[in-house]
Amino acid sequence: MTTDRFQYLRNAGVSLLIDARPDQEAIPRILHFGADLGPSPDFDMIEGASPIVVWGARMDKVRPVSVLPGIEAGYFGTPAMVTRSGQKWRTDNVSAKDNSVQIRLGSSDDRLTLTYRLTGQGVLATRVSAEFSDPTSRPRWLAATSLPLGTDVEELLVVGGDWAREFAIQRHAIGAHAVVIESRRGRAGHDRFPGLFAGTKGFNDDHGEVYGLSVGWSGSHRMVVERLREGTVVIQAGELFSETDSAPANYETPWCYTTYSPLGLNGAMQALHSFVREEILPRSIRSKPRPVHYNTWEAVYFKHDLATLCALADRAAAVGAERFVLDDGWFKGRSHDRAALGDWIVDPTKYPDGLTPLIRHVRSLGLEFGLWVEPEMINPDSELARLHPDWIRRDGDELLLQRHQAVLDMERPEVRTYLYDALHKLLSENDISYLKWDMNRDVTGGSHHEYVRSVWNLIDRLRAGHPLVEIETCASGGGRCDYGMLERTERVWVSDSNDALDRFDIQRNANLFLPPEIAGVHVGPSTCHITGRKLGLDLRAHVAMFGHMGLELDLRQLDERELQRLSQHIQNHKSFRHLVHSGCYWRIEPTGTDHCGIGVSASNKSEGLYLVVRTGSEQLGRGTLVKFPGLEMEQIHAVSAVAPIAGHVEQSLGPALRMGNLRLSGRVLAHRGLELNLPRPESSLLLHVKAV
Ligand code: DGJ
Repeated sequence: MTTDRFQYLRNAGVSLLIDARPDQEAIPRILHFGADLGPSPDFDMIEGASPIVVWGARMDKVRPVSVLPGIEAGYFGTPAMVTRSGQKWRTDNVSAKDNSVQIRLGSSDDRLTLTYRLTGQGVLATRVSAEFSDPTSRPRWLAATSLPLGTDVEELLVVGGDWAREFAIQRHAIGAHAVVIESRRGRAGHDRFPGLFAGTKGFNDDHGEVYGLSVGWSGSHRMVVERLREGTVVIQAGELFSETDSAPANYETPWCYTTYSPLGLNGAMQALHSFVREEILPRSIRSKPRPVHYNTWEAVYFKHDLATLCALADRAAAVGAERFVLDDGWFKGRSHDRAALGDWIVDPTKYPDGLTPLIRHVRSLGLEFGLWVEPEMINPDSELARLHPDWIRRDGDELLLQRHQAVLDMERPEVRTYLYDALHKLLSENDISYLKWDMNRDVTGGSHHEYVRSVWNLIDRLRAGHPLVEIETCASGGGRCDYGMLERTERVWVSDSNDALDRFDIQRNANLFLPPEIAGVHVGPSTCHITGRKLGLDLRAHVAMFGHMGLELDLRQLDERELQRLSQHIQNHKSFRHLVHSGCYWRIEPTGTDHCGIGVSASNKSEGLYLVVRTGSEQLGRGTLVKFPGLEMEQIHAVSAVAPIAGHVEQSLGPALRMGNLRLSGRVLAHRGLELNLPRPESSLLLHVKAV
């Protein structure tokens, strides 16, 4: 709805109100972003209701936050655009179409177009397109979004950790200061995912007003949340240019996505999930169930031989895997991680007849075949480096290595051509339907902007040439899984840690931004290769069932009983995967300190699958109370514990649950909940609830 002066977007419980013409030629101001203000709020009244603040040390005229705070004088927060030219900006045009608004701003030389689109899932997609006439006006920072949030926003939740411990949650109070989250690694890195949640005091999984934000950029990024002295909280996010870089003459910021929910983190997360599913992910994801993976990495590392790989494929097929992914180690000279990156031809010693015999075997078992690649990288010890030393990105004269590897100069067209040709050849000559696209180091030096655009461009070209090939984004685990990568990939390798206890936490938090069907998670070996912790098969399988499930262990080491149990879990995943991969994901907080839960409910509320894990032993001997969200309140549901169940867990189930005849209404399950007792730490229970 628009008037001459106001632009109002409204969708799925969220609204945005812009005062497009506060004064002749003045910059538009954002009067509201957040809760739905209804079909026809009185815009003039909302605008006129702002108090006149009579207080010391204030500008005489206090103005609401503009669409690009700081491009006019008199704004003392972090500017949304940082440039050396002090130009005066005016509004050239404001137009509205199909739930989106475009604002054109002009100065004597430059043009900016700001786009706001409020999607059907209640997510505000924003972007700025710009034309800069000369280098001095090209900004070093231009926010893709700048939004004032409610003044009652007091807390911030950001995610980031480390390699093998991605997506750790950190909370900050939003006091009288700015919180700045920046990644300078040319990718998000493991420590700074480009997304956050901000909300009212004490917001949690189910309570509080929460804003969720995510930047669709696969490089260095910046997010700023700041409380102005006057009380307004302003959020900004966009691409971070490296020190020596600034925006190109024709620049498009990445898209930035912001949502709002009055229903805590679960509400904001669910809006992001629906948006990602419907508007970001490639359509290919909808066309078939996500196949269960078998990945070779932790089973063989670099030691590839045909007989072993075929034996692993046999066992993988027998327990129910549907896609076999040959990880690192298959290409010429790759016997360790110190050599061969860049030489994308099959190793003739390990594979004298090429990949064909292995692929044939895998395909004969009914499995798809996938291949690991790391196209952007090069080892100094490689044929490619010896042939084209000038293709390597350097920092001045220095060659900084990480995992013994350097980054290719992706901006050079000949590098992209080389990579396209190499990958195109592999995909054309072999029956490969999947690539695991890895990136095992940070990007140093040079322009990070061009780097990201070049990588996207390469992936897009490859996808266009091979539309049936799916791609997984991996960067030593979850180092690059922003919404920009999600537009061009079907799966995220969330972490290298297959420690199910750590992974449960990592997945649960990654799911704040990533819907389960794209969040790759594997059943690893009983003793985790990274943490050394030994965990039971049920927990490992239960955790893997709530994502895009896979296996990553030497199946030859499992005895018949274990193989049988693993295959039962995979069978369960297959029968529930439609629900898990399309339903509504919930973070559940059971009572006490020792338990944690997640669940997925069907969109028609007739069914749900819930996982409770005993993560600790602080209150050993005490159970927990779990409440089950997402079900039809007045409907009676059958609640069943899904077999296989560990003996000690089964023994402590209430008699009705144990006998399989527990029937409760959605209301009782949601409000009274179930007392559960998992007697041992590191144990888990899977519950299926279905309307009867
Ligand atoms: C890092 C990835 O995260 C692992 O899964 C594996 O693919 C290795 N790279 C291979 O080098």
